[in-house]
Amino acid sequence: MELQNDLLLRAARGEKTERVPVWMMRQAGRILKEYREVRAKAGSFIALATTPELAAEVTLQPVDILGVDAAIIFSDILVVPEAMGLPYEMVEAKGPYFPKTVKTKEDIDLLVTTEMEDRLSYVYESMDIVKRELGGRVPLIGFAGAPFTIFCYMIEGQGSKTFSKAKKVLYSDPEFAHTLLNKITEATISYLKGKVKHGADLLQIFDSWAGVLSPAQYSAFSIPYLKRISDAFPEVPVTLFSKGAFFARKDLGELSCDVVGLDWNMDIRESRELIPNKTLQGNLDPCVLYSPFSEVEKQTKTMVQAFGKERYIANLGHGVYPDTDPEKVKCFIETVKAC
Ligand code: CP3
Repeated sequence: MELQNDLLLRAARGEKTERVPVWMMRQAGRILKEYREVRAKAGSFIALATTPELAAEVTLQPVDILGVDAAIIFSDILVVPEAMGLPYEMVEAKGPYFPKTVKTKEDIDLLVTTEMEDRLSYVYESMDIVKRELGGRVPLIGFAGAPFTIFCYMIEGQGSKTFSKAKKVLYSDPEFAHTLLNKITEATISYLKGKVKHGADLLQIFDSWAGVLSPAQYSAFSIPYLKRISDAFPEVPVTLFSKGAFFARKDLGELSCDVVGLDWNMDIRESRELIPNKTLQGNLDPCVLYSPFSEVEKQTKTMVQAFGKERYIANLGHGVYPDTDPEKVKCFIETVKAC
């Protein structure tokens, strides 16, 4: 189906656009009371994510209510480790928890990398509903975690400030680490191929914990796998978002991806110099949305001006925080659209 609004895709490919496209990481979620209602009906985050009709409903909410230029399929990066054989729980107010983690070579051997399409069919079913309901209004973004970020959860079993257990494996047994990273990459590519088949117009890879690594470790344990993923999808634009990896911008810019996402620690002009030939995405500090409307407007305009209106997709520098006033979010979106 032909897209009525393809601003995001044209900006990603480096084509001229009438205005800057805008969407928000974590736009489908707790900022909206409409999301919280559906979430309550589902009973749990996992029930919501695995019920295609409900996952589709919350995917569409930000498009209808906030007026963003793209939908992002409601799911989680953790569905991949789950499909590989490590189920997770979402602990209220704490986050994800994996009762079983990867400790030994045998644990790696037991991980599944095939039949991702069957194991994750609920994601594809929700995508089919979303594509039908969107009717081409805006593009649909498919996503996955970067292999290193998924590795962190598979080793640690939960979030961490330092991910020192995961890093310990990189230093003490690099071969073990690469074996696991390879398996995750294989499963992720197969999962994302299914997403493209079911209508994903662009893919974003979240390397949320990139910032815990040194530049040398990032080059060794993340970049090669991001390269494999970028190279595997010549058919759709790919965005790489490596939170905290300011040191890796040049290397990321040399991969075959189309867009590099920036967080708010990364200077805009310096990023344009380091990544001259790609579209950039980002990078407003999500905390700016706690300021008065006038300040949200001012900071947003300053950001758009610094990026320039070409080869640019407006977004926050990380996911929107759950306690953000949706009216401030609308102010951010409307300000970008008026730039
Ligand atoms: O709108 C969207 O962006 C699509 C939905 C989406 C979710 N998770 C839903 C979600 C996306 C893209 C993600 C990605 C994700 N999940 C990442 C990468 C992005 C990032 O923020 O760095 C990571 C690291 C995860 C893992 C994860 N999932 C954590 C750490 C948590 C708990 C913290 C939190 O935000 O609550 C989750 C839970 C989660 N995933 C929620 C949502 C809406 C909240 C759960 C709820 O509604 O109860």
